[in-house]
Amino acid sequence: MTNIPQLTLNDGHTIPQLGIGVWQIDDDTTPAVVSTAVDLGVRLIDGAFIYGNEASMGEGIRQAPTSRENLFVTTKVWNSSQGYAAATRSIQDSLERIGLNYLDLVLIHWPCPSRDQYVDTWRALIDARDAGKVRSIGVSNFNPDQIDRLISKTGIAPAVNQIEINPRFQNAEVRAVNEALGVVTQAWTPLGGGKSLGAAAVVDAAERSGKSPEQVILRWHLQLGHSVIPRSTKSAHLAANLDIFDFQLNDGEMAAIAALEAGERCGPDPQTFEAD
Ligand SMILES: NC(=O)c1ccc[n+]([C@@H]2O[C@H](COP(=O)([O-])OP(=O)(O)OC[C@H]3O[C@@H](n4cnc5c(N)ncnc54)[C@H](OP(=O)(O)O)[C@@H]3O)[C@@H](O)[C@H]2O)c1
Repeated sequence: MTNIPQLTLNDGHTIPQLGIGVWQIDDDTTPAVVSTAVDLGVRLIDGAFIYGNEASMGEGIRQAPTSRENLFVTTKVWNSSQGYAAATRSIQDSLERIGLNYLDLVLIHWPCPSRDQYVDTWRALIDARDAGKVRSIGVSNFNPDQIDRLISKTGIAPAVNQIEINPRFQNAEVRAVNEALGVVTQAWTPLGGGKSLGAAAVVDAAERSGKSPEQVILRWHLQLGHSVIPRSTKSAHLAANLDIFDFQLNDGEMAAIAALEAGERCGPDPQTFEAD
């Protein structure tokens, strides 16, 4: 079985560097995806309230051929549950829907700057952690100023900042500040909607290493040092996404992929995204 490296969080817990995301996977499919992925060696499962499949993610966890203690389960507090009371309730509801008595990681899904509630939401995550409902707490889509504000208001830095990263949107500044603050970066939509699969930098590295373009991009993420959570509903792709520990991109290949930066997001701009 693949031995997936662990990253150490600023609270002393560890997080697998590679996992799976379950966004846009329907309830009928989610249990089999989760249990198949775990059977193949995945230990980190990234969910969220808004994905609508927390219950079926929990079903997959119960079907998986390993005990819950060996898994790292993430969920996220949605925008409409920002604020202390609503976030506290959201965490409890997620626990009950997934069917767990603790979560490994809870993230504030988006900062929603114009609501200006994320500091109160953060206090709810801190208290949920202190109550033993959650092991680690973090944020998603936060910029450096917003992370600084959480730290200055509460004294607690997020363990993780999950952000959009792909070869055409590398988010280098946020990655650098996360690192400086001891916050582990995790990449969402790591394959970038397929937009760089045909780029010469990716295709050439794939040909040289005998891997697919998707495997090259995931390997690029690993070599940048962050955690990554690709999604797939296909067993062959789940297996391929784990098969990225037996090759290395060389410095020239890393530089060629770095040069694909185009400032092009796949997802919304976190500074204006406020959807309920
Ligand atoms: N925090 C946030 O705001 C946020 C936002 C977006 C996403 N996320 C998280 O990040 C996770 C990953 O992002 P994502 O789901 O948007 O996209 P992604 O993982 O970048 O890409 C998923 C797509 O890639 C295909 N794929 C995966 N592995 C493949 C392989 N080896 N070969 C060929 N195709 C492959 C999948 O198709 P098949 O099913 O056919 O393999 C699917 O269409 C999400 O599931 C979610 O957990 C978080």
